[in-house]
Amino acid sequence: ATERKALFLFFGGTGDLAYRKLYPSLFNLYQKGNLRSHFAVIGTSRQAMDDDKFRAAVRKSLADSGNRADSKEVSDFSSHFYYQAHDVTNTAHYSVLKEAAEKLDKKYKLEGNRIFYLSMAPQFFGTIAQDLKSQGLMSTNKDAFNRLVIEKPFGRDYDSAKQLNDALSKSFDEEQIFRIDHYLGKEMIQNIEALRFGNTLVESLWNNRYIDNIQVTLSEKLGVEERASYYDNSGALRDMVQNHIMQIVSLLAMEQPVAFTDTDIRAEKVKALRSLRVYNVADAATNFVRGQYGSINDQPDYRHEDNVPEDSTTETFVAGKLLFDNYRWSGTPFYVRTGKMLADKFTRVDVVFKRPLVDIFAFPQSQNTPLAANVLTIFVEPHAGFSLQLNAKTNDAGFSTEPIKLDYLVDAEKSKETPEPYERLLHDVLKGDGTNFSSWPEVSYAWKFVDQIRRVWDLQEPQFPNYTPHSMGPAAAEELIQRDHREWIYRL
Ligand code: BG6
Repeated sequence: ATERKALFLFFGGTGDLAYRKLYPSLFNLYQKGNLRSHFAVIGTSRQAMDDDKFRAAVRKSLADSGNRADSKEVSDFSSHFYYQAHDVTNTAHYSVLKEAAEKLDKKYKLEGNRIFYLSMAPQFFGTIAQDLKSQGLMSTNKDAFNRLVIEKPFGRDYDSAKQLNDALSKSFDEEQIFRIDHYLGKEMIQNIEALRFGNTLVESLWNNRYIDNIQVTLSEKLGVEERASYYDNSGALRDMVQNHIMQIVSLLAMEQPVAFTDTDIRAEKVKALRSLRVYNVADAATNFVRGQYGSINDQPDYRHEDNVPEDSTTETFVAGKLLFDNYRWSGTPFYVRTGKMLADKFTRVDVVFKRPLVDIFAFPQSQNTPLAANVLTIFVEPHAGFSLQLNAKTNDAGFSTEPIKLDYLVDAEKSKETPEPYERLLHDVLKGDGTNFSSWPEVSYAWKFVDQIRRVWDLQEPQFPNYTPHSMGPAAAEELIQRDHREWIYRL
């Protein structure tokens, strides 16, 4: 492994994400040798704490994610961690950080490389980015890099996202900004490109002549848990559709990139998103439906979860139809759905092919059931793999057909070695590879699409709750697809 040299500054360094995902991911990179002796971490937050206590918390986070907290490797790793209490709105505090950064840079010979990671309340993102520059935190060494990693949410509509982006742009160029969408760090999401552009069999059929529709399902079993203060202001459309679903759809819909580089891939994703039809009011109302979970047994309905107002109209479920106005996809809809408190926790993509134009097995005397559609399923999580449904002859003396499946599932042992999304994404930041991050044009087109739906929804009082926990959402999600004489491939 190539060793990367950098100083990490984590804003929100004592937060849940840092302890649960970021530090364990850095440790994995350390074990693999991508980080060795030339790295240091400064964690910041408002609370007071010394380095020892911070290091102990880091070691505990590694133990919680299955490492041996008392090993020499863990203590060597944690010795690179430093803590600095920091009020992000107090400009004077940045000079203290600057001094700490310079000291560590010398001590660990980091060559001026800096990664600023913002994982805290989004209203501070702009201020921090500006103070990092104005207070001299960014390295001025011309061979060094300064990179800004930014967690979701990136705005709550196009206007606020634009405002945020303008603020960041005052200090960082687009290539220095890494907007996290952790779905892009998932093995099987990255595999979409291999499946499509590595196989003639797949890519030559990947269009409206052969594909009837594509279905993307991000299903969650849990409810809102402890995150209501965030979630109730967001809802499923902003929380899952604007980012994760739009990213997956653009990977499925894009044209072949000139080369497998971040610039080329982004260009194709943006082009795809530009041809996504932005709905007018009437079409937004018919092509998107929402839901909110009701109660069952001991499970309270969404409106009675902790910190949710009793009259909340926040959606915990969305289903919709997306249409691309381009040569490849015109006439082939993409159906998407996501929700909390559904039947199971999984992510999958079902590519439904058209049936043969003529079913020669359906001659008048035949008892044969009509040919099934070919379906190519991409299993993203919890199991990774592909499945291809074909029609074959039944194994007997007569002549009938039945659907059979060619399955490829990554085995459990191998799955354990799959890097966590955050490990991959942090490694990409160290390498300066923006492939698996959302660029500003992608984010902005996604917001413009989503804003239209939000606009319509905000005009009407929904009839909530409207779905039973552990189902696959409200009846409206069924009607949405049945109206087009189709059905969801995954059903209960
Ligand atoms: C996050 C959303 O982006 O993704 C959460 O904010 C959601 O609401 C989560 O639960 C799902 O991610 P994963 O990786 O568990 O499918």
